[in-house]
Amino acid sequence: MLIHRPPMGWNTWNTFGANISDKLIRESADAFVEAGLKDAGYKYIVIDDCWSKKLRDPDTDRLVAEPQKFPDGMAPVADYVHGKGLKFGMYSCAGQRTCADYPGSFDHEFLDAETFASWGVDYLKYDFCYKPGGIDGRLLYRRMGMALRASGRDILYSACNWGSDDVWSWIRSTGAHMYRSTGDIFDNPASYRKIVLSQLDKLGTSAPQCFNDMDMLTVGMYGSGLVGTTGCTDADYRSQFALWCFCSAPLMLGCDIRKMSGFIRDLVTNKDLIRVDQDAEARPPMAARHPWNEDLLTLFKHLDDGTYALGFFNLGEEEGEAVATFSDFGLPAHAGYDVSVRDVLDGTGESVYREYMRVKVPAHDCRVFIARLERR
Ligand code: GAL
Repeated sequence: MLIHRPPMGWNTWNTFGANISDKLIRESADAFVEAGLKDAGYKYIVIDDCWSKKLRDPDTDRLVAEPQKFPDGMAPVADYVHGKGLKFGMYSCAGQRTCADYPGSFDHEFLDAETFASWGVDYLKYDFCYKPGGIDGRLLYRRMGMALRASGRDILYSACNWGSDDVWSWIRSTGAHMYRSTGDIFDNPASYRKIVLSQLDKLGTSAPQCFNDMDMLTVGMYGSGLVGTTGCTDADYRSQFALWCFCSAPLMLGCDIRKMSGFIRDLVTNKDLIRVDQDAEARPPMAARHPWNEDLLTLFKHLDDGTYALGFFNLGEEEGEAVATFSDFGLPAHAGYDVSVRDVLDGTGESVYREYMRVKVPAHDCRVFIARLERR
């Protein structure tokens, strides 16, 4: 199964945890389309942990959907999602139990993949809790990779071992299409910053067919829901979303999409930011820090049409003036080119810079530009 671009969608976990149901999925699928997410390129509706009965069916050994949450089982939920022109995702775990203590797929990989395929599942997130001691975790991801292929259905394989065992160095070989590279995100500025800073130098192996997954976004949660904690400001959400886009990370929303504000909807459907995320080449950004203010981060990313994405991020508590020195990214002063930029967040037109560019960035916020070279 070919996955050319980082997957885009929505996942239940960040906001709803165990409070999931047939009704929630249908309402969210409706809201997904109404909010313009589908038109913007989002595709997957994914049910995370806590969807099954606590034990397998004693006769068939199969996983069973919890009847109080999903009274008609999973197939009609998948049908509903498909009816909206979207794809349907589910969750299981490589260990004996899932992280929230439901049955995992250990030693049931082929049976479970068959079950998921029979329900119409298009995406499987595969977690890493309760792995039996003495078994190599890499083997378990290999097993599910084979099982999904054997299932006869195209199922996107979303591995989630939190970055353990140097995941980036072997996961592509298992057939996975994306791999979680860090522990869980929480809805506060320190959490998303820690995640992105831990991955900036590990994006070299994130590429078409298998992308580094920096976890579901908390954009739009404002401190509510399961991973809510303190919440973030709009400036932080803008930064978080843009950082994920610079990294070509999967864009899996985690807020309650039935209640998204206009600001959040506009942010997560911003055509230029999504274009940066979905760039066909998926090149990692080059990163530079301000010479004496560590909080100011500049990212520069090649895009497939010969332009560049240029981002200034203020990870600190005070307004700062961020700088891009073009020679840091491969454009020396003697090359004979200036850089013309267009602001993708405030929509202002082109301005031209020579050798370097400085911009004021409020605390927690960012500025993002599409840049192109212009011969002097
Ligand atoms: C964690 C995983 C989360 C969520 C949770 C469910 O291991 O990283 O994203 O899936 O399990 O219990």
